[in-house]
Amino acid sequence: MTVRVVVGAQFGDEAKGKITDYLAANARYVVRSAGGPNTGHTVHTPEGTVILHQLSCGVLRPHTVGVSGPGMVLQPMKLEDEMHDLEKRGLLRGEVVISDRAHAILPIHEIEDAWEDDLRGKKDPHASLGTTRRGVGPAYADRAGRWGIRMSDLTRPAILRDRLELLYATKTHIPGLPPREELTGQLAEVGSRLAPLIRPTEPIVWDAIARGDNVLLEGAQSALLDVDFGTYPYVTSSHPTSAGALVGSGIPPTEVDEVIGVSKAYTTRVGAGPFPTEDTGEAGEYLRRVGGERGATTGRERRCGWLDLSLLRYVARLNGLTSLAISKVDVLGGLDEVPVCVQYVMPDGSTVRDLLPSQADDLARAQPVYERLPGWPEFHERLKERIRREGARALPTELRRYLGRIASETGVAVEYVGYGPGRDETVRLDIGPNRPSAQGLPAWSG
Ligand code: IMP
Ligand code: MG
Repeated sequence: MTVRVVVGAQFGDEAKGKITDYLAANARYVVRSAGGPNTGHTVHTPEGTVILHQLSCGVLRPHTVGVSGPGMVLQPMKLEDEMHDLEKRGLLRGEVVISDRAHAILPIHEIEDAWEDDLRGKKDPHASLGTTRRGVGPAYADRAGRWGIRMSDLTRPAILRDRLELLYATKTHIPGLPPREELTGQLAEVGSRLAPLIRPTEPIVWDAIARGDNVLLEGAQSALLDVDFGTYPYVTSSHPTSAGALVGSGIPPTEVDEVIGVSKAYTTRVGAGPFPTEDTGEAGEYLRRVGGERGATTGRERRCGWLDLSLLRYVARLNGLTSLAISKVDVLGGLDEVPVCVQYVMPDGSTVRDLLPSQADDLARAQPVYERLPGWPEFHERLKERIRREGARALPTELRRYLGRIASETGVAVEYVGYGPGRDETVRLDIGPNRPSAQGLPAWSG
C-alpha cells in the first residue's frame, strides 16, 4: 500500500497529467485536492489526447476511482460537459466521485474573475495577474468569506436558493451578472443530475488506505503558484503544495509515503509574475516551438527559460520531496550546451540558493548565475525504441549527468524521466542521494 502525492515543482504545466496517468496504472484511487477548471492535465492515451480540467486522471482507467476532492472548486456545468465529452469518446472508464464539500464556481465567479483582473490592469498594467478567468480566485475568496456554495448545496433546492440570495447580495458592484432566479433554476437542475456522484469522499479514501489500496494524490498548478509560498500576488488561490494536497483531500500527514515533484528539464510560466531564468530571445522561442509550449486550458503562449535549481531546491524543502520526475528531456536533445541556474545574485550583492523572497519584485530583480552543462543527442525514434526496450541504461550519458546534477543539487533522487508525450514514454530510474544506482547507472555526481 502506498499513498503518493504528485506536486508541480515549478510554475505549472510540468506534465503532471502525464506522470499521474503513468502512476495511476498501479493506483486504485486518484484524488484531486485543489484547483478547478484553471487546470489542464494533458494525457496521451492510445485512443487520443485528453485534456482533463476538473476530473482526476483516475477516470481514464478501468478499476480506478477518480475523486474530485474537497479542496477543489468545481464549475458544475463544465464538469458535466467534461464527463460527457469523455463518455462520447469512450474514455470515461473509471468511476467518478465528487466531494460534497468542494465549492462550486458559478458563472458569477467567472464574470468577477475577469472584472477583477481588468480592474488590476487598469490601475497598473503590471498588476494584472493574467488569471485563467475561470472564476477560481473569486470562488476561493467566497469559500474563505463563508459566502460560498458547496456541491452538496446544489442538491438541496431550498438551501441553494437561500445561499444564492446571500451571495448575490455581496456582488451588487459587479456588472453583467445573470438574473438570480435563472441561475438558481439552472444550478438546481445540474445539481439533481450530478447528485448520484456527489458524496463525502474522505471516508472513501480513508477506507481505501485502511484496506491497503494504492492512493495517488494528483496535484494541480504548482508549488510556486501557492497562495502563501509562491510568487504572491502572481499566484493561484489554493495550496498546490504537498501539505495542501492533504488539507484538500482530508488525508492525514502520517499516511503519506512518497512526495513526487514534477519538473520540466527547463522552465515555463503562463500568466504574469517573476521568472528569473526566462529567455525572451531566440532560446526562449526555440523552447516554445520545440516544446509546443502553449497553455492547455487557455491556449496562451507560455514564457520559456532554463531550469532553475535555486527554485527547485526551495520547492524540494517546502514539499518534502522524496523523488523527482523530470519531463520533456527530449525537447533539449540536440543542443550543444544546456544552461542551468545554480543560484542568484540579489541587487544588494547577496546570493540566494534555495529561497523564494516574499517580495515578487525582489525575485524579478535577481540575477541568475548559470552553469552550462553538456547537451545530449536528439531523441530520434531509434533512441526512443532502445529506451523502451532496455530502460534507463539507454539514456544518453550526458543526459544522465544532467539528471545526476539535478539530484545532487537538490538532494532529491530523480526517479522518473519523460522523453516524449506518449503513455509509454516515461522511464523509471534511480539517480540520486542515498539511492543504490539502479540498472547500472552511474552514481550521481557533478
Ligand atoms: P488562476 O488560477 O486562474 O486564478 O490564475 C492565477 C495564475 O496562475 C495565472 O498566472 C495563471 O496563468 C496561473 N495558473 C493557474 N492554473 C494554472 C495551470 O494549471 N498551469 C499553469 N498556470 C496556471
Ligand atoms: Mg497545465
